Amino acid sequence: MKTSEWSATSPFPSGGGNTENKIRVEDCSVHDWYRFVLSFPPHLVRQYLVEFGADNSSLVLDPFCGTGTTNVECKKAGIPSWGIEASPVTYFASRTKCTWKKDTSKLLETAERIAEDAAKKIACSPALKTLSEEQNALLLKNSICPRPLSDALFLKEAIDGCETPFHDYFLLALAKHLVYSYSNLKFGPEVGVGRVKRESADIVGIWFQEMETVRRDLETFSAFSGTRADIFRGDAREIEGDAFRGKVDFVITSPPYPNEKDYSRTTRLESVALGFLKTKDDLRAVKQGFIRSNTKNVYRSDTDDSYIQGISSIKTLSDEIERRRRELGKTSGFERLYSTVVKQYFGGMARHLSNLRPYLKEGAMLAYVVGDQASYFQIPIRTSSLLGEVAESLGYRVEKVETFRKRFATATEDWLNEDVLILKYEGKNHEYLR
Ligand SMILES: C[S@@+](CC[C@H](N)C(=O)[O-])C[C@H]1O[C@@H](n2cnc3c(N)ncnc32)[C@H](O)[C@@H]1O
Repeated sequence: MKTSEWSATSPFPSGGGNTENKIRVEDCSVHDWYRFVLSFPPHLVRQYLVEFGADNSSLVLDPFCGTGTTNVECKKAGIPSWGIEASPVTYFASRTKCTWKKDTSKLLETAERIAEDAAKKIACSPALKTLSEEQNALLLKNSICPRPLSDALFLKEAIDGCETPFHDYFLLALAKHLVYSYSNLKFGPEVGVGRVKRESADIVGIWFQEMETVRRDLETFSAFSGTRADIFRGDAREIEGDAFRGKVDFVITSPPYPNEKDYSRTTRLESVALGFLKTKDDLRAVKQGFIRSNTKNVYRSDTDDSYIQGISSIKTLSDEIERRRRELGKTSGFERLYSTVVKQYFGGMARHLSNLRPYLKEGAMLAYVVGDQASYFQIPIRTSSLLGEVAESLGYRVEKVETFRKRFATATEDWLNEDVLILKYEGKNHEYLR
């Protein structure tokens, strides 16, 4: 099934001609330091900040913060925020995008030194720099040609070898251009390897130009460098953060949806090349920290489905998927897991919404951007409606569901909604599930 999720910066497709999910040119500063195909657009966040009436006395949470769009948009407006993200590379990206150093006077000078060092290493090395065999095995085949990879690894070595407060900006710029300027990857919206291979690229030059942009953005927004945007690596199903108990006014987020998308593949190249993932075990540990949304990350030990046992519509949907599988005579290991993923997904979201409650103020408003799906034998999964039911069982009230955009699913010849589910936390003394 071909459906598109969020398109990000210009290297990505427009999502079937839709413009509402594309970043606007005037919004690119800071956001564009690193985005991915799953990022939602800053103007969507802004819409709900305005609608909810957020100001500099509010606290906004994004529990699935990805590349930090919600947090960056809050910080640009002087609104304090908190973000949680399970993937190490996107956690690094959102944290770096939310750390705005005030004194940037030495940034370009340092970048220049690193660029010179990297250029020397590239010119003088008798052999190409490579990844270990185990790291290579984690990459999508042919994601990057040997020469650009080698140059990028030399640049990383130069960045790591320089003691500087700007280290993370330097590394993030490399992460961005590894994907968009040096690699063979394309996003349509699934990550794949394009036909045209980039055999070489001006790695150091492109990277240095990016540092000029970063410095300019930091100067533009220096008035808000002190606005808090605390980003943590964690699991939104088991929220930790005592300092934020009872303090969250608003949640603006886009969790994964049950769509067979392996979220770890989208960022695999930069995760591996920059050392965020070194082994198969690292990858497995990261996947286990994700909400279950595809058959490649469900495990025997999963128990999130126990959180939605009382919700009959999810059981009915899961049973229908299993019945259809039998009717169609589908027997692969993955197909057998479709009905399980659906239960584990909504169970994981129930666990999240349950454990979120102690952090919310009474009357807190929440916006969850989710897409309908039909990835499992074309049976429609109305994600926002089911998530609304889960939320209502936990003391939230569904205020409204707004359609953000529609995508045409060729397999079902049907339109699938991408919705914003607006919830209000009633703050009643609801019995916690556990
Ligand atoms: C649709 S993306 C969010 C994109 C984000 N709105 C942005 O603009 O970049 C969903 C994110 O949830 C993260 N995620 C998945 N399971 C998670 C969990 N259990 N806890 C926290 N984050 C999780 C994924 O790594 C991914 O970055």
